[in-house]
Amino acid sequence: MLDAENGKMTLRRFPDGESYVRIESECKSRDVLVMATLFKPDDKIIPLIFISETLKEFGAKSIGLVSPYLAYMRQDKRFHEGEGISSRYFSKLISNYFDWIVTVDPHLHRYHSLNEIYSIPNQVVHAAQVVSEWIHKNIDSPLLIGPDSESEQWVSDVAKRAGAPHIVLTKVRHGDHDVEVSVPEVEKWQNHTPVLVDDIISTGRTMIETIEHLKEAKMKAPICIGVHGVFSGDAFENLNNAGTRLIVTCNSIPHSSNQIDLSNLISDAVQKMMRS
Ligand code: R5P
Repeated sequence: MLDAENGKMTLRRFPDGESYVRIESECKSRDVLVMATLFKPDDKIIPLIFISETLKEFGAKSIGLVSPYLAYMRQDKRFHEGEGISSRYFSKLISNYFDWIVTVDPHLHRYHSLNEIYSIPNQVVHAAQVVSEWIHKNIDSPLLIGPDSESEQWVSDVAKRAGAPHIVLTKVRHGDHDVEVSVPEVEKWQNHTPVLVDDIISTGRTMIETIEHLKEAKMKAPICIGVHGVFSGDAFENLNNAGTRLIVTCNSIPHSSNQIDLSNLISDAVQKMMRS
């Protein structure tokens, strides 16, 4: 647990939709942590900038951002001519307004670390430990399945910690809602419980496509675990209806599927950051 005061602030919208910010706790010469998990980031970025500016004007010594889910990490290259690389623009914005950042498993694929795009100090929390503990405690004979090569690094880590076998699939994304996944010979794992593990569940298409292949291979109904349950639109219902046994997420984004608690890991990372 952090030894910190729970600060008071009013954040609301004016009738015309503009943001209103009022800091009600003394912040002069103090280290301030702003907690904001950044799913639906476009709704949050202007209030965050205003909070940071207001805190600075009232003399905060430092302003850190604790954002369990960090948005805009997936657009990490120009996939098509003319596209913006939004991960860079977003990181530049956050780096301008905050002194440090703590987050959980940011989507690092073409970037190897946050330092490549964030110019402020950062601490990254890894959910692998708590995810593997959950699997170990709740699932008999799990077979961990990573939907694509991007997930290899940490699905193998979770599997090792949970003492379970794992396989990694090949994925081709043709569009936001159009994903093709190839499943290698999974038949030999028919007595295992498939556990699909991914860092983000957004439209759910990656997992739904994988489940279709598992059904064809007559595998048991899978358990789907996402570190960050973004669940855009009807994604949760669609995934539920696709034949999952259970959908479980970490609490980096509040959702009814949250079963894995990250708070101790986050508070340790914040303490490390404050000491550095
Ligand atoms: C991307 O590479 C991520 O690791 C996830 O596989 C992806 O974000 C899942 O997205 P969706 O749920 O929209 O298929």
